[in-house]
Amino acid sequence: MKRIKAIYPGSFDPPTNGHLDLIERGSKIFDELVVAILRNPEKDPLFSVADRRKMLEAMTAGFDNVSVDTFDGLTVDYALRVEARVILRGIRAISDYEYELQMALMNRKLQPGLETVFMMPAEKYSYLSSRLVREVAQLGGSIECLVPDLVAQKLREKMDVAHKFANGEQPLPSETKIRTRKKRS
Ligand code: PNS
Repeated sequence: MKRIKAIYPGSFDPPTNGHLDLIERGSKIFDELVVAILRNPEKDPLFSVADRRKMLEAMTAGFDNVSVDTFDGLTVDYALRVEARVILRGIRAISDYEYELQMALMNRKLQPGLETVFMMPAEKYSYLSSRLVREVAQLGGSIECLVPDLVAQKLREKMDVAHKFANGEQPLPSETKIRTRKKRS
């Protein structure tokens, strides 16, 4: 029987429990699943691609058939390069549908041999998004239960640095990302 390899592309800034839920579901139905982080120079992410990769690698260490990679350019080109036949995407609510449908149809137009498969995360994650996690963390809300512990820890570190910077303290050289963001606001 043909082995089915899927990619799960996204920004993962940061990865959440919703992403992890989808990865777990995907790992059960595909022979191989590659979590593919988009390297997008136009976006101003909170976490570097290297940080997101490390977090996702730690989160997925327990899945034998899941790996983590990064890509730029078109998702369909990346999928072809790694010989995947499926693009996995999550749909949380009807509000996701229009955007996801548009993307799936465009990807099909670009590469008819690739299929997009949608999966629903557990209902308890249906309201969860990286954007909201970032916002809640930045405003001091609790993000436990929304992201894995290691991601919560990384977010806390980022917020501590932001707090330090806001209070006029000198951030460490490794903390310059936060400094840049602050300057722009
Ligand atoms: O996690 P996100 O931000 O919703 O993921 C969006 C992503 C990365 C899947 C999408 O922006 C994408 O595929 N970008 C790569 C460029 C591309 O292929 N564009 C055409 C999509 S129809």
